[in-house]
Amino acid sequence: MPVIGLGTWKAPKGEVKKAVLAALKQGYRHLDCACDYGNEEEVGAAIKEAMEAGVVTRKDLFVTSKLWNTFHAREHVEVAIQKSLKDLGLDYLDLYLIHFPISMKYVPIEELYPPEWLNPTSKKIEFVDVPVSETWAGMEGVCRKGLARNIGVSNFCAQTLMDLLKYAEIKPAVNQIELHPYLTQDSLVAFCQEKGIVLTAFSPLGASSYIELGMDRGEGVGVLNNPVVQAIAREHSRTPAQVCLRWAVQRGYTAIPKSTHESRLQENLHVFDFTLSAEDMVKISRLNRHLRYNDPGEFCKGMGLPNGYPIYA
Ligand code: A2P
Repeated sequence: MPVIGLGTWKAPKGEVKKAVLAALKQGYRHLDCACDYGNEEEVGAAIKEAMEAGVVTRKDLFVTSKLWNTFHAREHVEVAIQKSLKDLGLDYLDLYLIHFPISMKYVPIEELYPPEWLNPTSKKIEFVDVPVSETWAGMEGVCRKGLARNIGVSNFCAQTLMDLLKYAEIKPAVNQIELHPYLTQDSLVAFCQEKGIVLTAFSPLGASSYIELGMDRGEGVGVLNNPVVQAIAREHSRTPAQVCLRWAVQRGYTAIPKSTHESRLQENLHVFDFTLSAEDMVKISRLNRHLRYNDPGEFCKGMGLPNGYPIYA
């Protein structure tokens, strides 16, 4: 799994194809996608064009997609992966992840795709009683069929993983979680590393991507403008984004920064020719303030429910 991948969450339609194509030309080989991002067809068009132009071959690529919450019933897992494969123009994924440990009422593809958080009929989040064990059996099924070469999870905490590891016949290869200097998740990281579960850091640059969504929790200054990160960047003649990514790499994560700008794509990929000192690493890790931007409960608030939904209650 290439250590730096291209994130495609919020990469808008009409821009994402160009960004993916530019990234592949620059040397990116790891693409992080999901049904929920609503842009897999366009990502697929970029992959096709890059392959036809001889930029990449399928075997050079590492493509991830994710199972949305409405497809958690065992019989829907294959329906969902087949749709992602069709949109991406691939016959297998390198990695398929359960996007959230949250099961929601099934919405047929013909009715609404991607199905999003709110049920199209009730306009509310509709939960269903599908345990992760059932969903995981479906994930193992698509893995055994060769539709996904590896399977894993996203947004899982250590407790949820401990349970999953008790019955999983195929162990989760990856846990993709929010990780950046303001949210270091040390105990979850240690747990995954001890169990041999690869960590992928989403939002590795901190708040930048949440400002546009109004989800930056008043921390609009964000990691990239943090004086400690900026000072370390100056010392190494690098950008704050490169410092964050290098910090992630040295902590043993893979990371998937999203960008639709060619210069930033370039910058984000080039983090392998400098090293942060042990002292730099400690200074950055001490910035931790347990600040989680990507909280499903907050999504619900943002979607017009008066008091948010007590998703963790
Ligand atoms: P843009 O696409 O305009 O470059 P995510 O947290 O989902 O990985 O998103 C990263 C966010 O940070 C996006 O808003 C992206 O915006 C921005 N970004 C990506 N790379 C850089 C960079 N090197 N410097 C500053 N901002 C960046």
